[in-house]
Amino acid sequence: MSSKTTPDIDTSFKTDVHKGLTSFPKYLYSKYIYDSAGDKLFQDIMELPEYYLTSCEFNILSCHTQEIATLFNNPKTGFDLIELGAGDGKKTKIVLRYLSDNNFDFVYKPIDISQNAINSLAETLANELPDVTVDGEKGMYFEVLERLQKYNSRKKVLMVLGSNIGNLLHDKAIDFLTKLKDIMGPEDLLFMGFDQKKNPQIILDAYNDPTGVTAAFNKNLLHRINRELEADFKVEKFKHWESYDPESGTAKSFLVATEAMKVSIEALGLTIDFDPWETIHTEISQKYDDKVVQWLADAAGLVIETSFKDEKGYYKDYVFRRKLD
Ligand code: AVI
Repeated sequence: MSSKTTPDIDTSFKTDVHKGLTSFPKYLYSKYIYDSAGDKLFQDIMELPEYYLTSCEFNILSCHTQEIATLFNNPKTGFDLIELGAGDGKKTKIVLRYLSDNNFDFVYKPIDISQNAINSLAETLANELPDVTVDGEKGMYFEVLERLQKYNSRKKVLMVLGSNIGNLLHDKAIDFLTKLKDIMGPEDLLFMGFDQKKNPQIILDAYNDPTGVTAAFNKNLLHRINRELEADFKVEKFKHWESYDPESGTAKSFLVATEAMKVSIEALGLTIDFDPWETIHTEISQKYDDKVVQWLADAAGLVIETSFKDEKGYYKDYVFRRKLD
């Protein structure tokens, strides 16, 4: 996932920060972590040994490439592969290389909120896989979905990797899946990663690495508010805290004030009071099992066609079809 400041984000950033920090309990939306510093920190997170999600999905795509390519393909018409939140496309390249080496008829359409991410992905693909037709597009998930309605002349495969859906509460996840379903025809597929419930310690370690990269990623929210909204958060006075509830499967990130303080946010004309140990909830990273994914799919009008898991069974990519009425 990556992002860039746009005028729309600017206004909603202000409104959302105002709302979140004047609520009780306080919260901030995790999507605002991803400015260019946040994008870089997320790249670093994906390299951490504790952050197993990336290597697990890499493992799935490497071990099942042929099966996945065959599922995606329509031998008569070919297909369009549309990836939402493509980022650097590192994992997708495994599939793209196989498709290209085996002369599949397809177009790859990476979509990302960052024009930089789209440009550099197009550039690397032009060098590494010159036979792949790349038609990148900048945009946010929901705004782009409407434009994707026009992709209906042949089979399309929608791809959302990285368990990005886990950053949404279940009702928002159902909304998102429903919107994806609404642009799918009967033969279209949705290929989506869902991080699975597992030993809770493994999950806590993934979001609380000893080198402090995840803490820095979380705290980037406060740095960003300081930078963009002329605030004076003393970021070092906040502690990154992770919790995981093995019953609901919800991992939650917080920033905890270690002492009482006042923070002024000039651009909002606002002063916020923090009590000692008061929290700001910043992110959820939902973990799933088959029953929950089945329930989400059903609520969104989708059916699970098949799924692929990594060798450790930590992570799954599910393949969905639109439910026939
Ligand atoms: C992008 N998203 C799926 C990541 C996750 O696992 O929730 C973001 C992240 N937060 C902390 N580490 C990684």
